[in-house]
Amino acid sequence: MSAKEVLLATDKVSKIFTLKDGTRFTACNEVSISLHKGETLGLVGESGCGKSTFVRTIMGLHPATSGKILFKGEDITNLTGEKRREMAKHIQMIFQDPATAFNPKMRIKDIICEPLRNFERVSDKEAEARAVDLLRQVELAPEIALRYPHELSGGQRQRVGIARALILEPEIIICDEATSALDVSVQDSIAKLLAKIQREKGVSYIFICHDLALVSLISHRVMVMQKGNVVEELPGDKLQSCQHPYTKKLLASVFTVHR
Ligand SMILES: Nc1ncnc2c1ncn2[C@@H]1O[C@H](COP(=O)(O)OP(=O)(O)O)[C@@H](O)[C@H]1O
Ligand SMILES: [Mg+2]
Repeated sequence: MSAKEVLLATDKVSKIFTLKDGTRFTACNEVSISLHKGETLGLVGESGCGKSTFVRTIMGLHPATSGKILFKGEDITNLTGEKRREMAKHIQMIFQDPATAFNPKMRIKDIICEPLRNFERVSDKEAEARAVDLLRQVELAPEIALRYPHELSGGQRQRVGIARALILEPEIIICDEATSALDVSVQDSIAKLLAKIQREKGVSYIFICHDLALVSLISHRVMVMQKGNVVEELPGDKLQSCQHPYTKKLLASVFTVHR
C-alpha cells in the first residue's frame, strides 16, 4: 500500500437543507477533499460553516444533495442497508461529548465493545479482554473496564470514546470537535494520544476543531471552510502564512485568547 494512497475522496459534495418554510439552505457547497493513508486533515471554520454537516454526509447520516464520496475508489455516496453498516468497519466518528453518546447503565468494557457486537457475538470474558487491551492503547488503567461512564473524568471518557472508535480497526477516524469540551491541558494530551495511535496504526483522521493552534499542531493539511465553501487549503504547520482574509481573521481571533 503506497503511503500516498487516497483513502477517502469527496468530489464537489453539496448538502442543501430544505427548511420548514420551503426555502433551501446550502450548508455545504461543492466540497472536494482527499484524505491519504496516515494523514490528518484538519477542518476549520467558524461555528455554523458546515463542518459537521460535511462529515455527517460522509458518514451517510444524511444523503448528499449532489457530488460523490469515494472510499478507496469505490463510490459510497448512496450506500444503504448492510453495505452502509459495513462502512463502520472502515470509518468511525468521535464526537464532542461522549458522555451523551454512552449509555450510563453500561460498563466501560461493554461501551467499548458495542460496535464489535453489532457485527459478531462477543462473550463477556472476551469483551473484557478486548476492552483491557484497548484501554492500554489509550493509556487508561485496566480496572476502568468495570466502571460506569459517570465515574470517569471528561478526558478519561474521551479516551474511552477513542478506544471504542478503534475496536473495529478502522482506517479513518473523524473527530468532530472531539477535544472541544475539555480543558486545554487535557486537549493537548488527547491530541498527543491521537498522534501516537496514528504512528502505530497508520490511521487517518479528519480533525474538526475550532482551536486553530491545536489543529495546526496535529494536522498535515488544513482546509478552511466559510459558509459552506472551502476557501483555503494550507499545510498544517503553515497556517500563519495564510492568504485568505477569512483565515487571517480566524487566526487573529484564536491565537490572542488561547495558548
Ligand atoms: N438538519 C438541518 N436542517 C437545517 N439546517 C441545518 C441542519 N443541520 C445543520 N443545519 C445548518 O447548517 C449550517 C451548518 O451547520 P453545521 O454543519 O452544524 O456547522 P459547524 O459544524 O461548522 O458548526 C448551520 O447554519 C446549521 O444551522
Ligand atoms: Mg459542528
